[in-house]
Amino acid sequence: MNQVQHVRVAIYGAGGRMGQSLLAAGSGFAGVEIVAALVRAQSELVDNPVTGIFDPQGNELTYVSALDPDIAVDVLIDFSAGAAFDNALAIAVEHHLGFVSGTTGLEPAQQLDLQNAASRIPVLWSANFSVGVALLKRLAAEAAAALGPEFEVEIIEAHHARKEDAPSGTALALGQAIAAARGLNLDDVARRARDGIVGARAPQEIGFSTIRGGDIVGEHTVMFIAAGERIELTHRASSRDLFARGALRAAQWLRGRRAGYYSVEDIISGND
Ligand SMILES: NC(=O)c1ccc[n+]([C@@H]2O[C@H](COP(=O)([O-])OP(=O)(O)OC[C@H]3O[C@@H](n4cnc5c(N)ncnc54)[C@H](OP(=O)(O)O)[C@@H]3O)[C@@H](O)[C@H]2O)c1
Repeated sequence: MNQVQHVRVAIYGAGGRMGQSLLAAGSGFAGVEIVAALVRAQSELVDNPVTGIFDPQGNELTYVSALDPDIAVDVLIDFSAGAAFDNALAIAVEHHLGFVSGTTGLEPAQQLDLQNAASRIPVLWSANFSVGVALLKRLAAEAAAALGPEFEVEIIEAHHARKEDAPSGTALALGQAIAAARGLNLDDVARRARDGIVGARAPQEIGFSTIRGGDIVGEHTVMFIAAGERIELTHRASSRDLFARGALRAAQWLRGRRAGYYSVEDIISGND
C-alpha cells in the first residue's frame, strides 16, 4: 500500500501544546493538508485565525468548535485530555474519519470504546509517537526476556509541570512490553507508586517513579537492577515536534485503510 499520500486532517485539541505543535508541523508537511482546528466551544480561540494555515482559496483557517460538514476530512488527530477524548472519538465515528490519538490517561472503558470503534473506522492510538520510543520499547522487552527475573525492573519518567496523568502512558506501555516479555500481566505486578512503610520489593514487581517539573518534554528510563550491576535504557525527547510529525505520518498511513485497530509498530514494520 502507498505509504505517503495526501491526507486532509482535522486537529482536535488544537489550542493545546500538542495541538499547536501539530499545526506548526502540519503547515509545511508534504502531503498533509490541515483543514480544521477544533477547540472547545467556550475557547477564546473560536473564530480566530490559525496563523500560517490557509485554505485553497487563500483564506486563513480559523479555529472552530465543530466540523463544517462542507469541508472534506480524512483523519481526525486527537491530542487532548481524558475528559475530551470521548467527544473526539464520537466525532470521528459520526463522520466516518480515520482516528489518530495520542491522548493518555484513558480509562479502561475508553480503551474499550476505542477497540469497539475500530470495527467501524480505522483507529491508531499510541502513548508515544516517537520512533525512538518505539525502539526503546522493543529493546526493553528484549532485555527483559534475556536478563531474567533476577534483574528487577524500575521505570522512571519525567515530564513538564502541567502534565495531568501519572505514570505517563509511555511508561505504562514500556511496563506492558516488559511484563509481556516475561509472561506476566502488568496489572498483577505494577507498583505505580511507593509511599510510607511499603515493605520489601516483590520479586516480579515492575516499579514506576514519576518526576514533574518545568518544561521537560518527556524522558523515560528503564532500569534492570541485579546484585552488583545495573543496565539503564533511556530516551529523552527535547521537542514536541517529533510527536507531532509522528502523528502526521500516522495520519498519512491511516488514510484509506479499512476499519481496524492499528499501532505505531504496524507503521514501522510496514504491516499492511
Ligand atoms: N502520544 C504522544 O506521543 C504524546 C506526546 C505528548 C503529549 N501526549 C498527550 O497528549 C495530550 C495533550 O497533551 P498537551 O501537552 O498538548 O496538553 P494541553 O496543552 O493541556 O492541551 C490539551 C488540549 O485539550 C483540550 N481539552 C481539555 N479538556 C477538554 C474538554 N473537556 N473538551 C474539549 N477540549 C478539551 C484543551 O483545551 P483548553 O485549552 O480549552 O483547555 C487543550 O487544547 C495529553 O494526554 C498528553 O499526555 C501524547
